[in-house]
Amino acid sequence: MEEARRIQSLPPYLFARIDEKIAEAKAKGVDVISLGIGDPDRPTPAHIVERLVEAAHNPENHRYPSYVGMLEFRQAVAEWYKQRSPKIELDPKTEVVTLIGSKEGIAHINLCYLNPGDIALIPDPGYPVYGIGAILAGGVPYAMPLREENGFLPDLEAIPGDIAQKAKIMFLNYPNNPTAAIADEAFYAQAIAFAKANDIVICHDAAYSEIGFDGYKAPSFLQIPGAKDVGIEFHSMSKTYNMTGWRIGWAAGNAKVIEALGRIKSNIDSGVFQAIQEASIAGLLGPQNVIEAVTKVYQERRDLVIEGLNAMGWNLKKTKAAVYVWAQVPKGHNSASFAELVLDKAGVVITPGNGYGEYGEGYFRVTLTIDTQRLKEALVRMKQVFGKFEL
Ligand SMILES: Cc1ncc(COP(=O)(O)O)c(C=O)c1O
Repeated sequence: MEEARRIQSLPPYLFARIDEKIAEAKAKGVDVISLGIGDPDRPTPAHIVERLVEAAHNPENHRYPSYVGMLEFRQAVAEWYKQRSPKIELDPKTEVVTLIGSKEGIAHINLCYLNPGDIALIPDPGYPVYGIGAILAGGVPYAMPLREENGFLPDLEAIPGDIAQKAKIMFLNYPNNPTAAIADEAFYAQAIAFAKANDIVICHDAAYSEIGFDGYKAPSFLQIPGAKDVGIEFHSMSKTYNMTGWRIGWAAGNAKVIEALGRIKSNIDSGVFQAIQEASIAGLLGPQNVIEAVTKVYQERRDLVIEGLNAMGWNLKKTKAAVYVWAQVPKGHNSASFAELVLDKAGVVITPGNGYGEYGEGYFRVTLTIDTQRLKEALVRMKQVFGKFEL
């Protein structure tokens, strides 16, 4: 059986590879602490779970859901955005589509805009699905380097003219995975002008938009003038409400783009279990202090990680958002060798930065989504084993 070329060229998904390494270490009896995948450790708020239980008993919810999502869910998304910023007006009928988690929509949007050989502009380092989605659609990912000296924002002026001409779609993601960088409104305005000039669809991935520290609140791409002319924003219940396992998200913005994504999806999947949509409505329209509570926990962990690493020789500044700390590897290491060293000697999993693209080489990522005691233990172990690193 010969696999198609499009999947022959695919590397195994980053975290599938890391899971294998963890399994090997565990088989040797190591008590592995994983600071790898960004999967919230806290439970989904009780009122959301309770609504799911009720909705699951309703036989009407046992049938196929609507392809684009229940209108009530899409209305709740529009209302949630309005509460977040009065500048964001969305028509729930035409400007919101329900997704089976934002990962699904991020992969599928490429099918809507890329003909074979067309370019997708992707942040590097970046969430791997942008580039993989482009490859699966027959497109060609073009890396926009996120450099530390630019605050991990892409330099849009550095994109060559012929590449911009061939590009059909651009992915942006702030607050950023893996760097935890943030973008201000001026950056989005620049990106919107670039997209207009080059006829490019912007897909802003706002998976971490609600996790802000020390009072920081990330702007939504959709609140920037002109955003809806050129693009959409992805968000999901996953990180905001500790619902990664539930698989529900959305895309919102430009009606044509939303319709195209909905059209692709209606031919591939059959929507999200309605009981999950009903529970998510309870999340979106219910008490929002659940977000503050979880953010407070992440902020404490951020302080622990930054202080812990700084005590080992780093000189990291406090991050403003997202659930990650991104740091350079010590002298004499590359991303892979350092991740391997930390796993072998301390039994701690960190994610090698090169897993997020070539410009992630020389960095590693630590996640804040694990139990605080385990996180402390990981830092204590690293300090005991390594003392200080030379950076
Ligand atoms: C940047 C980014 N976007 C999107 C996702 C996907 O989230 P979900 O499919 O659970 O909505 C993730 C998950 O880790 C992520 O880090």
